[in-house]
Amino acid sequence: MAQPPVCDYEGSDYQTRFWRGQGREYEDRVERLALRRLMPPAGTNLIDVGAGFGRLADEFDRYQRVVLFDFSRSLLREAQNHLGGDPRFLYVAGNWYEMPFVSGLFDTLVQVRTIHHAANVPALFRELARIARPAGCYVLEFANKHNLKAILRYWLGRQAWSPFALEPVEFVELNFDFHPRWIRRQLQAAGFTPGRALAVSFFRLPLLKSIVPTGLLVALDRLVQPAGRWWPLTPSLFIRSLAAPAGPVASPGAFFACPRCHAPLGEVQAGRLVCPNPACGRHWRVDNGLYDFKEPARE
Ligand SMILES: C[S@@+](CC[C@H](N)C(=O)[O-])C[C@H]1O[C@@H](n2cnc3c(N)ncnc32)[C@H](O)[C@@H]1O
Repeated sequence: MAQPPVCDYEGSDYQTRFWRGQGREYEDRVERLALRRLMPPAGTNLIDVGAGFGRLADEFDRYQRVVLFDFSRSLLREAQNHLGGDPRFLYVAGNWYEMPFVSGLFDTLVQVRTIHHAANVPALFRELARIARPAGCYVLEFANKHNLKAILRYWLGRQAWSPFALEPVEFVELNFDFHPRWIRRQLQAAGFTPGRALAVSFFRLPLLKSIVPTGLLVALDRLVQPAGRWWPLTPSLFIRSLAAPAGPVASPGAFFACPRCHAPLGEVQAGRLVCPNPACGRHWRVDNGLYDFKEPARE
């Protein structure tokens, strides 16, 4: 079946263009704060879905195994460069609509600043629900269309789309803002139970950031965040969900699965993982510590 289109960051300068020295210390700090409030602090297997260059990797110090998963090999190589040889990290390239993992594997799933690129959220959530352990925790950050600025612009007639309408708005190709209620419904439809929400980045205004010390803005954000459930007016929302309490649990030792047919994959041999299913038999490259499931290798 054809997959939805992907926003391709291959070769992108995302790290230097968006983060390094770009005046986004406030955003980075409040996102980390929200993550710490919602994520179990320690665990066995964690996956960062759309991890990019591994900006948040140091938040996962107390997990035994951390998968940095992204469509962009080049961003994963940047992550690998700065995380060095820490054996807890696995760098996995692939498409989130066809996850290369066995079912019931991850106790924690994290997704920050990426779902705005998802043209098919229900398909993404179904895959995440499949690879989550029973009662696993999924922390999702998403761009909120029902934010104060969008509401004011709409009331003043300066914005055509309604921030109150539930369906996503694609404001630029493959960039979506979502309504919190719509996100909750999709999570439920995939089998997650959405729970606590945090309202993040309320003070994301260039003028404010230039005159108010970052530490003070972060402290104010900390106070505002808990209002997320009943006051979802910030540009960014974090929501914690629990996976269904019953379901398959990955067998000990099972980890990667063929992204096309879901057959569990064995050991790496000669730089390849080979699908054992005779009806599939695809080969997947493992190159210099990067597990590459973007497309099958030639046999
Ligand atoms: C804006 S970056 C965010 C990176 C990181 N989460 C952060 O907060 O710094 C969005 C990331 O989503 C990844 N992405 C987009 N579509 C994807 C897909 N279908 N499968 C896997 N990753 C995807 C991109 O490659 C990119 O690294």
